[in-house]
Amino acid sequence: MIKLNVGCGHDYRDGYINVDGSDLLPKVDKIINLSNDSLLNHFDSDSINEILAKDFIEHFFHWEAINILSDFYKLLENDGVLKLKLPDFKFLCKTWFLSDEDKITYLYGGQDKNQNKSKDIYREKFPEFFCHKYGYTQKTMKHELSKIGFKNIKTQRRGKNFHVKASK
Ligand SMILES: C[S@@+](CC[C@H](N)C(=O)[O-])C[C@H]1O[C@@H](n2cnc3c(N)ncnc32)[C@H](O)[C@@H]1O
Repeated sequence: MIKLNVGCGHDYRDGYINVDGSDLLPKVDKIINLSNDSLLNHFDSDSINEILAKDFIEHFFHWEAINILSDFYKLLENDGVLKLKLPDFKFLCKTWFLSDEDKITYLYGGQDKNQNKSKDIYREKFPEFFCHKYGYTQKTMKHELSKIGFKNIKTQRRGKNFHVKASK
């Protein structure tokens, strides 16, 4: 039973192989920068039971994200499950109770702006990992996943984000 937590950040999960591009995290199982490397170089096709990618896909340009999602599809065994969490572009644009400044942060990421007073060595070393490079609605993500071949695609908004569950 192999499960991947891709772009794990500080959300290290037992029972998963936790993957991230940063070598500064306190705990990570495999360091892979998915902007210039592919998971297919590290794991066999049709070998993974579950892939979790929370707050991750929006950190890539559209073409990179499609390649990563296609790699997820290849890595999953038949009936393997994909779970995503992403900012809900439609909700963020339409909602009236967030300030414009908050909307900018949720849509474009923190970029190089330190979020607290202490020195953020992680952000200084990898500012590009804090950028959101594209946005999705539940409808556009469903469309992208079904084009790749995913089935049983379910999405649900939770606050400013939406969650996706799909299978191969
Ligand atoms: C917003 S954090 C989400 C962390 C975690 N999944 C969570 O839900 O708390 C995004 C993570 O993606 C990682 N990341 C961003 N770009 C990456 C890349 N090109 N390759 C690998 N990891 C990347 C960052 O290092 C960061 O840990």
